Parts: sequence; C-alpha cells; structure tokens
Amino acid sequence: MRLMSNLRLVLSDVKYKNEYLDFISECREDLKETFFDSVIPISDEETFENDINKLINMRIGKDLPDTWVPQSTYWLLENGGRIIGVVIIRHKLNERLRFRGGHIAYYIRPSERNKGYGNQILSLALERCRDLNLQRVLLTCRKDNIPSSRIIKNNGGQFDSEDIDNTQVIQRYWIELPE
Ligand SMILES: CC(C)(COP(=O)(O)OP(=O)(O)OC[C@H]1O[C@@H](n2cnc3c(N)ncnc32)[C@H](O)[C@@H]1OP(=O)(O)O)[C@@H](O)C(=O)NCCC(=O)NCCS
Repeated sequence: MRLMSNLRLVLSDVKYKNEYLDFISECREDLKETFFDSVIPISDEETFENDINKLINMRIGKDLPDTWVPQSTYWLLENGGRIIGVVIIRHKLNERLRFRGGHIAYYIRPSERNKGYGNQILSLALERCRDLNLQRVLLTCRKDNIPSSRIIKNNGGQFDSEDIDNTQVIQRYWIELPE
C-alpha cells in the first residue's frame, strides 16, 4: 500500500486545540453511537485542556484505572492541519484486550470515510508500534465491520480466532512486525 504523503500521525497535544474542536464538532453524535466516546474525548472549549492532560497521563501510565494499560492517542493530520482520524495504541495487552480490543483502535471522521484513510491510519500506527518494540500486534473487529476487517487484512493481518461478545461476533487478527 502506498502512503499518502500529505498525512502524518501526531501525538495528541494542546497545540491542536482548534483542529481537534473542529473534528469533534463533526463526530460528536457518531462517537456516541459507535462507543468511541470512551476513548476519544468529546471535548469542548472548557474541557479540552483537561481531556488532553488525561490522554497524556494515560500515555505515561499515571492515574490509570485498574483494568487499563498505558495507551497513546495519535491524530491523523493532513497538511494544512485538519484532523482526519484518531488512532489509539495500547502499549501492551491485558486479559480483556486479548479477548476484545487488541493493541490498536482507529476512527475516521464520517465525511472522510471510504477514501483510503482507514488503510493509511493503521499503516502509520504500525510504525509507531515498532517504536514501542512490539513484535506482533493484535487487532480485533466485529465480523460485520467489513471496512475494518479489510483494513486489517490489507495491512497483513492473519486471522486468529473469533468469539461472541454481547451477541456480536468479534474476530481477532495478528500482524507480525518484521524488525
Ligand atoms: C472502519 C473505518 C475506520 C474505515 O475507515 P475508512 O477510511 O472508510 O477506510 P478505507 O477508506 O481505508 O477503506 C478500507 C476498506 O474498506 C472498504 N470499504 C470502505 N467502506 C466500505 C463500505 N461501506 N462497505 C464495504 N467496504 C467498504 C474499502 O473499499 C477499503 O477496501 P480496499 O482497500 O481493500 O479496497 C471507519 O468506517 C470508522 O471510523 N468507523 C467507526 C470506527 C470503527 O469501526 N473503527 C474500527 C473498529 S475495529
């Protein structure tokens, strides 16, 4: 897959306040519907800074809830500064993430879907996983989430197993990261 050169991942940071609030203004309802509001804060002018500080704490493992592992939140930034999507990388797995969740979760803003950005965001996230010295990465997705399962397979995902979770069939894939 060829990477789009106008795109990069940046760590969530207060300097992107305007860009992030613009992103949220489009995604607010969709984030709630897709339950991504649990990992992508629906910030406003007042809460933004505090929300980003929480993301930074999650990255460095400070004040983590018992069942959470450290995770980094990156924004997919287009030249010109628009945020196209978000990707969350968990630094390690626990039992819950092994069952469902895996190392990586990604989200593309609704108006930019089906343009190849999903493929790109995972590809860029895998480079960051190498920086974390991960040798293989677990991805999970609902069996009926066709775009997501294509993204995983396009990035080298090998099917591992499937289970039922709350009436949904979820599938697990591993992606090997060569040194
Ligand atoms: C899943 C999601 C990230 C896909 O992002 P996207 O930018 O639309 O993905 P892409 O444009 O890169 O498309 C990925 C693949 O899915 C296919 N696809 C996209 N939309 C599709 C649709 N509605 N139906 C069938 N296939 C579709 C594309 O053709 C592409 O396949 P290909 O590269 O093999 O041709 C996006 O829909 C999203 O953010 N959904 C909500 C969050 C979510 O489900 N995250 C994943 C959790 S596991």
